[in-house]
Amino acid sequence: KPVLETKLKERTEAIKDFFGGNEREPLSDETLERLFQFEELMVKYRSAIREVTTKLEILNDELSSSMNGNPIESIQSRVKRPYSIAKKLTRLNQPVTVDAIAENLNDVAGIRVICPFINDIYKVADMLLMQDDVHLVRQKDYIKHPKENGYRSLHLVIEIPVFFSTKKEMIRVEIQIRTVAMDFWASLEHQIRYKNDSPEVQAIADELKDCADTIAQTDLRMQELRQRITSGT
Ligand code: GTP
Ligand code: MG
Repeated sequence: KPVLETKLKERTEAIKDFFGGNEREPLSDETLERLFQFEELMVKYRSAIREVTTKLEILNDELSSSMNGNPIESIQSRVKRPYSIAKKLTRLNQPVTVDAIAENLNDVAGIRVICPFINDIYKVADMLLMQDDVHLVRQKDYIKHPKENGYRSLHLVIEIPVFFSTKKEMIRVEIQIRTVAMDFWASLEHQIRYKNDSPEVQAIADELKDCADTIAQTDLRMQELRQRITSGT
């Protein structure tokens, strides 16, 4: 107990230093309490990411021995930055509080799964959703229904139980599953979205949309090629 108290005091001092509390204007106990709660919530999201990532890696290992090649090329993940969390809550007309984060945001914990072929995407999604501790909250299929701008990906919002010292909690994770080619397109589109001050915006958007369609056709052709190769073996 005394050790814990000392630790807590050290952390409190560190946070005060970081957020600029000083002798004249120390951070209020209320602010400190909120910062601790925020930190605790982020630990939960990071834990959920680890659990889902492990599930995906296990599926990839198992499927790669029964199929030709890995159904997953790579997995990326991130926890949303505090600044982006605050910006999104404000956009949703919600207070910037710890409770509002858990209630209103689906994408604090985000995982991106890159697959070689389109049918790998559905295979991975189906197998993950089949697991009895994975609860599907929402699904958006931007592959069957691409966005106006050409964006394609399969989006899942899931909830999974994470076990902590005294309780089990359901934590939300957003998963984006897409092919290498779709990812290539999305990364450029993302960059362009933040540089839309050019007089050429519309022309660029049109050409980008065209690229998305070409990429989608190529993804299909590559998948057919793979089927021709593997059906012979
Ligand atoms: P957000 O408020 O943007 O999270 O939208 P949403 O809650 O309606 O979710 P949606 O499933 O549409 O999008 C979630 C995430 O997918 C975004 O935060 C982006 O990371 C990605 N995304 C969606 N649309 C696009 C797009 O047009 N281009 C790119 N590059 N990424 C997109
Ligand atoms: Mg988002």
